[in-house]
Formats: sequence, C-alpha cells, structure tokens
Amino acid sequence: MALTELAGLDQTKGLEEWRIAYLGKKSRLTELLRSLATLPLEERKELGAATNILKNELESEYKQKEDLLRNAGIAAAGVGIDVSLPGRSFPKGHLHPVSRVLTEISDIFAGMGFQVVEGPEVEWDHYTFDSLNIPPEHPSRDNMASFWLDAPPKEPEGWRMLLRTHTSPMQARVMEKVPPPIRIVVPGRVFRYEATDATHLAMFTQIEGLAVDKGITMADLKGTLFEFARRFFGPDRAVRFRTDFFPFVEPGAEMAIECAVCRGKGCRLCSGSGWIEILGAGMVHPRVLKMAGIDPDVYSGFAFGIGIERIPMLHYGIDDIRLFYNGDLRFLGQF
Ligand code: PHE
Repeated sequence: MALTELAGLDQTKGLEEWRIAYLGKKSRLTELLRSLATLPLEERKELGAATNILKNELESEYKQKEDLLRNAGIAAAGVGIDVSLPGRSFPKGHLHPVSRVLTEISDIFAGMGFQVVEGPEVEWDHYTFDSLNIPPEHPSRDNMASFWLDAPPKEPEGWRMLLRTHTSPMQARVMEKVPPPIRIVVPGRVFRYEATDATHLAMFTQIEGLAVDKGITMADLKGTLFEFARRFFGPDRAVRFRTDFFPFVEPGAEMAIECAVCRGKGCRLCSGSGWIEILGAGMVHPRVLKMAGIDPDVYSGFAFGIGIERIPMLHYGIDDIRLFYNGDLRFLGQF
C-alpha cells in the first residue's frame, strides 16, 4: 500500500508526508523495529530480518522517487542542464609576438645545426666588454649606456656587475668552456640605459649567433645569414650586406632587409632608405679567440647579433616599439 501511494505522488510536497508516515520516527515500521527488543530471540531474528528488508526497500523506492520528482522540478523550472547548448568558450592566451619571432628564429638556426643556449641577464663587465675586445675607454662602456649594479666588485679580478647590454658576452663564456667546433644561438633580453621613445627601449631582445671551427670563412657567415633571411622573410626579399664596425669582429658587417612596405623605394617605416637593418655580424676577432683560450692560427669563427623587436615592427608596420611592453591586450591580442 505504501508503494502504491508513493507511485501516485507527483509533487515533492507529498513526498515528505509520505516519508514521515512510513519511515518517520512514529511510523509503524519504526514501532515494529523498536518492539523487536521485547521478543524472544528466535522470533526476533526472523522478524528482524524481514522488517529490515522492508525498510531497505521503502527507503530505496523513496530515494528514487525523490530524485525523479526533483529532476522533473528542475526541468520544469527551466534551469536544468541543456546538453544541446553550445559550450561556453574560454578566452585562450597566446605567445607574445616577440616570443613568437624569437622561437621561430631559434628554430631556423637549430635546423641549421646551431644549439640554442641562454645566458645570464646580470653579467660581469669582463664578459660584456673586456673579453670582447671592448677597451675601458670605448663609448659602450660609458656609465650612460649601462645599468650598473650596486654590488662589490668580484675579488680578485675587480669585475663589476651590470645588466648585459647585448647577448655577445655568451660568445666569450661559451668559447672559454667549450672546445671547437662550436655552433650556438643565444636568445635573450638586453638592457641599455637610454631614454625611451618610439624606436628605443631600455630593454629589448636579441639573438646572438656564434660558430667556431677550423676553416670558417666570411662565405660561411654570408651563406648562413642569407639562408636564414630566405627561410624567415621568404625568397623574394632582397638582402643587403655591408661593412660595419664592432670591436669584437674583424671584418665586421651589417645586414639589412628590403623594406616590406615600400619594397626598397623608401617610406616612413624605413625612414626613406628602403632598407631595414636587422643585425650586426662579422668574423670573430683573433684577440677575442685568444682571450678565450682558442688558438686563432688554428681556428676561426663568425658571430652575429639580431635585433628582435624590429622584425615584427617591420612585418606588421608597427610604428612604436613601446606597444610591445605596455601590456595593452588590445594591441597584443591582434597577433
Ligand atoms: N652585439 C652587437 C650589438 O649589440 C651585435 C653583434 C653581435 C655584432 C655579434 C657583431 C657580432 O650591437
């Protein structure tokens, strides 16, 4: 009878009444269970087992009915889970445009057999300048150009700490430790004590390259850099290679890419020249090899340093370098 009544219910309200009547403290079932204590052992066993079966059945039927009615209520109220609705989308993050370019360039050089290594951003002046043939009176050592750290000089050499002004100190660090052949690229941040404007930042990104072995020539340098440009910018962009000066290479060179916007005619982006300089390079200076303990009569090498931010600026026509680092997602979200 209890079960027929339960089946007939169509409201959660009636359900509670039913529970009190058949399973509550004052229900016949509870009374029966209580009275068991007064029976002789044999009868108690038999009746007890039967009553428990009944109780379990009533309880499980009650639970089922409760679930059924509750779900029906939720569905009727229209707040159920509608599995046919499209899912909610979560905004997905992505790599910063500078990180993307850096990874892409590292991958290209890795594909040419260069190992990707990183170096410290806080560096000794020894590796940043001295070991790269930059004498104390050279302008790039000027206090104006570097962020010096307020740390006591290293004993006994008297080395001083600064934020690296380029990724080149890793040339000296690697040559000092690793016997040739060496082929590495070093992506990383560099710091210069400069006023910030549309084309200058106190922090920017470079990727350094170094190859040292027997018989390396300028032709290897040009071949490697032209191949990089072909893979990164595509086969139809003209490349310009000219002499330049850096104290740690001899001869030194500079490479520029035909401007993407005007294709060499000259426009605002390339400040009228038709070319955008993207890197400095050259043959490792014999003195630099020697200081690192590599015999320049046996070995030779080439090095290059690519400025990263310019590349997406040139590619997307971005006219202010500060946009990369002011954290404005309306800008960054476009890439
Ligand atoms: N370190 C140089 C710079 O920051 C670039 C460079 C690297 C030039 C390696 C030549 C060889 O301007």
